[in-house]
Order: sequence, then C-alpha cells, then structure tokens
Amino acid sequence: MSDLKIPKHVAIIMDGNGRWAKKRNLPRSFGHKAGMNNIESIVDYARKIGVKALTVFAFSTENWSRPKNEVDMLMRAFDRYIKKKLKDIKKQNIRFKVIGEKRNIPDFLLKAIKMAESETKNNAGLIFAIAFNYGSQEEITDCAKRIAQDCIKGKISLRSISTDLFSKYLYTHDFPDLDLLIRTSGELRLSNYLLWQASYAELYFTDKFWPDFKVDDFQEAIDDFSKRDRRYGNI
Ligand code: FPP
Repeated sequence: MSDLKIPKHVAIIMDGNGRWAKKRNLPRSFGHKAGMNNIESIVDYARKIGVKALTVFAFSTENWSRPKNEVDMLMRAFDRYIKKKLKDIKKQNIRFKVIGEKRNIPDFLLKAIKMAESETKNNAGLIFAIAFNYGSQEEITDCAKRIAQDCIKGKISLRSISTDLFSKYLYTHDFPDLDLLIRTSGELRLSNYLLWQASYAELYFTDKFWPDFKVDDFQEAIDDFSKRDRRYGNI
C-alpha cells in the first residue's frame, strides 16, 4: 500500500444501474437507488487513501431524453441524497461541488445544491464533485464563450490564451489534473465526460455494473493505475 501511487483526481462513469436492475427483474429505479447507495463507501475509501478529488457522473445533458418518470426520480433522489449526506460530508471535511449546467434543474434541487456547496466551500479535505446535467462539449463551448467575452471586454489579451488559461475557465479549474478515469459496465467510451480533463488521464474499464463496483474493485483500479507508465508524450 505504501508503494502505491495514489491518483490525485479520479473520475467515475457510474454506468450499468439499469442493467443491474434488469438482471434482477427489478424496475430501473431500484438500480439507481442501489447505485446511489454505492457511492458512499467509494468516497470514504478515496478520502482515506489520500485522493484529492473524486468526480462522479450522475446525470448527463443527454439524460433528459429518458422517460419523464426516470428523470423526475433522479432529480428527487439527488435532492434526498444531499439532505441525507450533508451532515457526514461536513464532518469529514469534504468540499461538495456540483459541476454542470444549472439551467433546467428544478428549483428544489438547485436550492439543495447551493446550500451544500456553500456550507462546505471552506472544507480542505477531499473535493467530492457530482457531474449533474453535465456535458463536456457544452463545458468547453461555454469556456470558449467566456474567454471570448473577457477578450472583448479587454480583461485578457488574445495572446494570453493558452491551454493553461483555458483550464482556468473549466468547472474543474481548482481541481488537481485528472489522473484516472474509471467506467463501469463494460462500455468502452467517454460519453462526453471530462474530455479536456481526460487528455492525459489513465483509463480503466470494468465489466461490473456500478452497484456491484465495491471498494475492492476500486482498490484494484488504483493498483492498476499505480503500475502504469505515464509518459505524457515523452519517451
Ligand atoms: C447509468 O446507469 C447511471 C446513470 C444515468 C446515473 C448514475 C446515477 C446514480 C449512481 C444514482 C443517482 C445518484 C445521484 C447522486 C443522483 P444507466 O441507467 O445508464 O444503466 P444502463 O446503461 O444499464 O441502462
């Protein structure tokens, strides 16, 4: 354990809740509930081994096209999740953050998100971020727009635009660089998740459905990361 390289920032695409439920002849909502219940132990473990930021994908900009009852269920579940976990999050010195478009998110949920972010904003422990109504292409487009606006206003010069400056406009501007991106459920794609941030991240795919992805599995992903030779284009 002491020889392990611990990634500073880990992202997870928590995929396979629906298939987990289907395999058990349960409604999809049961899969989401099981998926939600699975988050805590992973956050806890990440915090204990010294990960600085954990960013999990809970709702994509494309997920609005799912049946209305599933979308509503996810909104309510997220609200309940925040209300239930906030006390522990604060106790554990975790900084809670939601990344994504705030547009279209129902008011009750926005209120809960703002409260949780504000009450934990000075915490110096793990950054626990939930990507909600998040799409990476949208994030990058939004950065480009804000950079253009700042250029027009004369706040920055055209010459100063660099990859470093661009990163400062991302939702994750104050997170460490993404080191490891995990996707569960056997799908081998990034699905519009943290595309800029994943430029040099190590990718880890597992066939396990998210509700079955336990601390041991997370540990295995960290072990695997630890063995990777990261060259960043060098030799
Ligand atoms: C993928 O499963 C998962 C999601 C769309 C969102 C992840 C959501 C949770 C873990 C629960 C909600 C958590 C919070 C914090 C709101 P899928 O439905 O795409 O599964 P499938 O590909 O097997 O159908």
